[in-house]
Amino acid sequence: MNKIKIALTKGRLEKKSVELFEKMGIDCTPLLNKGRKLIIPVGDYDIILAKAADVITYVEHGVCDIGFAGKDTIMESGGNFYEVFDLDYGKCKFCLAAKKGADFYGGYNIKRIATKYPHVAAEFFKKKGMDVQIIKIEGSVELAPLLSLSDAIVDLVETGSTLRENGLEVIEEIADISSRVIVNAASMKLRKDEIDEFLQRLNAAYA
Ligand code: PRP
Repeated sequence: MNKIKIALTKGRLEKKSVELFEKMGIDCTPLLNKGRKLIIPVGDYDIILAKAADVITYVEHGVCDIGFAGKDTIMESGGNFYEVFDLDYGKCKFCLAAKKGADFYGGYNIKRIATKYPHVAAEFFKKKGMDVQIIKIEGSVELAPLLSLSDAIVDLVETGSTLRENGLEVIEEIADISSRVIVNAASMKLRKDEIDEFLQRLNAAYA
């Protein structure tokens, strides 16, 4: 049978995931020496390195059995899979933020919200029953209120330095974020023993 395929989010949190795999007793030498390779056989698993949103796509479509992705991307993408474990790293918060001292809720004009996460932002304001205009930005979202493109942003805040250094402040916290493990719905049934074994090793690494 094929090896279990695990999709990891590449970039910032990749190192943390590799450290965790080592802690689970998986020899990650091939991952550390991967070069430009994208599918890396590591012990009993095939590791796939991909962007967070693609990790979710691969797991949802069942071409990967397990995925490691941030709750931010999970909230933005949605999808049909199981979220089974909170990895407790990659911790930050989704926040609504605006220029320091700005009266965001004042006035009657439709507020403009810049964000990399249009779905999360739309849901947040829908719950409030507040009509807003959402403007999709790809990065450094903090620029939008500084350039008067938007009244506020919905973005991730970790240390708060980016907000502080740009004269912005949190108006409201929206959700706690961290890296999560997701599992394809069919794999959960059809490859239950192997998935359970992986999750047991994961639990043991956190004990
Ligand atoms: C993230 C996020 C904030 C910043 C928050 O951006 O979108 O801009 O980090 O971190 P802080 O609270 O510790 O300052 P990232 O660095 O991923 O770059 P991007 O804005 O280009 O996506």
